[in-house]
Amino acid sequence: MEFLELVRKRRSIRRYKSDPVPQKKLEYVLEAARLAPSWGNRQCWRFIVVTDPAKRKAIATREWAAEAPVIIVGCAHPELSGSRFNQQYYMLDMGIAMEHLILAAAEQGLGTCWIGGQFDEEAVKQALGIPEGVRVVALTPLGYPAETPGPKGRKDLREIVSYDKW
Ligand SMILES: Cc1cc2nc3c(=O)[nH]c(=O)nc-3n(C[C@H](O)[C@H](O)[C@H](O)COP(=O)(O)O)c2cc1C
Repeated sequence: MEFLELVRKRRSIRRYKSDPVPQKKLEYVLEAARLAPSWGNRQCWRFIVVTDPAKRKAIATREWAAEAPVIIVGCAHPELSGSRFNQQYYMLDMGIAMEHLILAAAEQGLGTCWIGGQFDEEAVKQALGIPEGVRVVALTPLGYPAETPGPKGRKDLREIVSYDKW
């Protein structure tokens, strides 16, 4: 599949089949995350693969997310990444790695959905024994899609790109 075709195919999936994710596919998407670039190649992340149904329920604030057979929790250690001009780069490191994972999942016919807002960080940390100082940046359910979302608009290139000035 061509890269742009894959990017177009990926959509946020909010309904999942209960069919398990084959181990090979799980390892494939994790490998895509592992290979992501990061500040100083410091790889400040850890990906927690949650399959236990009680834990999935405890960390997902949306029922549809807990229904997926796997939830991947993206954690980052801010001190292992860098900062410059008041910008902390662990969020960016994590974002790139998660997007690698998410695109690899789409290529494998698996659904995901970035969850950056709809979770309770403290509840996730407690349920999974995540140490102090580590931030939970994002979660994604992972499983076979039980829906095919329609097209979602994006701004036109003319609205978001300029050449040589703002
Ligand atoms: C950083 C980030 C955080 C997001 N957080 C949530 C979330 O908490 N809950 C949710 O349902 N979708 C969340 N989304 C998914 C967006 O709503 C979705 O990507 C956007 O509407 C475009 O739709 P598409 O992914 O199907 O192309 C998030 C996406 C990103 C990139």
